Amino acid sequence: MDNRTWWERRQKVVANGIASSFPVFINQAEGSWVTDVEGHRYLDFIGGIGVQSLGHNRVEVVQAIQEAAATLIHTSFHTVMYPRYVTVAERLVEITPGAMDKRVLFVNSGAEAIENAFKIARQFTGRPGIVSFTNGFHGRTFGALTATDKTDPYKIGFGPLLPDVYRLPSPHCYRCSLKSAPANCHQQYLERVDTALVDTIGVDRVAAFVIEPVQGEGGFIPMPKEFLNGLRRICDHYGILLIDDEIQAGLGRTGKLWAIEHAEVVPDLLVSAKALGGGLPLSAVVGRADIMDTIAKGSIGSTYGGNPVALAAAEVVLDLLVRDDVLNKAIEIGKVMREKAIVWQHKFPHIGDVRGLGAMVALEFVRPGSDVPDKEVCRAVIQAAFRQGLLLTKAGLEDNVIRLLPPLTITPDDLGDGLERLGLALEEVLSPQSVKA
Ligand SMILES: Cc1ncc(COP(=O)(O)O)c(C=O)c1O
Repeated sequence: MDNRTWWERRQKVVANGIASSFPVFINQAEGSWVTDVEGHRYLDFIGGIGVQSLGHNRVEVVQAIQEAAATLIHTSFHTVMYPRYVTVAERLVEITPGAMDKRVLFVNSGAEAIENAFKIARQFTGRPGIVSFTNGFHGRTFGALTATDKTDPYKIGFGPLLPDVYRLPSPHCYRCSLKSAPANCHQQYLERVDTALVDTIGVDRVAAFVIEPVQGEGGFIPMPKEFLNGLRRICDHYGILLIDDEIQAGLGRTGKLWAIEHAEVVPDLLVSAKALGGGLPLSAVVGRADIMDTIAKGSIGSTYGGNPVALAAAEVVLDLLVRDDVLNKAIEIGKVMREKAIVWQHKFPHIGDVRGLGAMVALEFVRPGSDVPDKEVCRAVIQAAFRQGLLLTKAGLEDNVIRLLPPLTITPDDLGDGLERLGLALEEVLSPQSVKA
């Protein structure tokens, strides 16, 4: 059956609120490539939204899933336990920042893990408040959604959202709301945070700050190291917990295992998901033992959380991150993508900013000669890239950013091929002949 027929069938049964970027249906994937039902191949620089860091259908991951499924699919760890929950928890304790004792909770999705981090922070501190930051994204469930900055389309019509969730400004060099110089902007932002806590929110109402060290959906905006260190100091001073959302930036994407390691900050709770399960639904909250041990027995969890098959995949993902030297590869592919993006930025005045960290590289589109976001041009480039056989996804509060999320293990040839296709797409949309006056 062809893509069009599938599309017609989809329209009749799939919830209208589900958006899909491209009118194709994939039935096979391998490495950096996916193939649709008509046999067209696409280079995939989306990777299931930052999930397939080791490429699609990595043979070791597939084997681990097959073996695990043949042995044990599900019992629910809340009733009858199995060893893998413990062994993968041991490994996460080992590889997450901080030498202190830690405890791990497994759930299924990024948002679900964020919800649990908020619940843990509230129960531990006895305080209700969660502070998130501008351009942050933490998921679509109520708590995570309230902490998310973007309103349209995520929040419209879904209120009332959670009370006691506050959003404070965080640094964004290209769009600095305080108009401060990059060298000392963190001080001004930290003063804002401190003032808001003391004068407006009340420090004894705040359980936790939730941050993304590199904001993903927000458009690959790295938080300056000094800002993260300052937040850590503020948290320590007022007894507030620091929740590190590593769902998109973690597990090697920035060239360090955890993005917060660039700042050498140790969070109280770290949240991981996406790449962790190698494509199966798995997320984790890894927290300081003295916090996690106070949480009432039975008050957190989920039927499927830490499913044995997903944990088997995670075990292999953690092995391969080391065996494939993924951190160095992320730095290398990041350099290649950034260099190319900067060349394009010089060529096309529609590219206002190129930014990111490690392999997180993004291009922000604006009206030439201004910083006015240009969502239409961004969309046109993504569609032109699609016609060139390259899958790309957008980001940013204004949907005017393209973020590159190839596998971290992509071959140099595939990376070069993908960038060439993106170059052609940019040329098609942005070259003087094609840009409308
Ligand atoms: C930083 C961050 N936090 C949370 C989430 C939510 O994860 P999920 O879609 O698995 O619920 C995402 C998803 O894109 C994310 O990028």
